[in-house]
Amino acid sequence: MIEIKLISPEDTYKIRRVILRKNIPLSEKSEGDFDKDTFHLGAFIEGELISVATLIKNESSFFEGSQYRLRGMATSENYQGKGLGKKLILKAEEILKERKVDVLWFNARIVALEFYKKLGYKIIGEEFDIQFIGTHYTMSKKFKNV
Ligand SMILES: CC(C)(COP(=O)(O)OP(=O)(O)OC[C@H]1O[C@@H](n2cnc3c(N)ncnc32)[C@H](O)[C@@H]1OP(=O)(O)O)[C@@H](O)C(=O)NCCC(=O)NCCS
Repeated sequence: MIEIKLISPEDTYKIRRVILRKNIPLSEKSEGDFDKDTFHLGAFIEGELISVATLIKNESSFFEGSQYRLRGMATSENYQGKGLGKKLILKAEEILKERKVDVLWFNARIVALEFYKKLGYKIIGEEFDIQFIGTHYTMSKKFKNV
């Protein structure tokens, strides 16, 4: 059974490190992890944490209104493509709508673009490079709060 739950910042570190920081000399910790408006979601199978996502209240000049940024989206390798990431994003969207957030945005790796596009996210602007990780695109979705 898949369960989606709120988790602590520290709970996200292992999956972030293994999946998002493999051979990359950057910390698995993100600025904003402990901010009061931040929340972290985990997808569990049989009690084991498999997929993580972090939502941080963070504004970009690309957008207007109240904004959250998705960070640290990762699913353990053996479980990718089984619908866990999608469940996390849908839960995050539900919480953000309750909080009357207007826009969810993030910087997406090229390998994940299709995942986000399937969930209705759109690319904004040009591609750009993040050192050690590679090419990214900013993506976003506007909720119908305004
Ligand atoms: C990208 C990632 C977070 C997606 O999580 P996931 O749990 O594997 O995704 P899901 O199984 O919920 O996928 C939902 C849909 O997106 C598709 N999808 C997922 N990852 C995809 C990818 N990399 N390319 C193309 N399609 C993808 C799935 O096939 C599924 O399609 P369906 O709804 O038609 O069946 C995960 O694969 C991952 O951790 N990748 C490595 C780290 C990474 O790149 N993170 C994103 C950083 S921006």
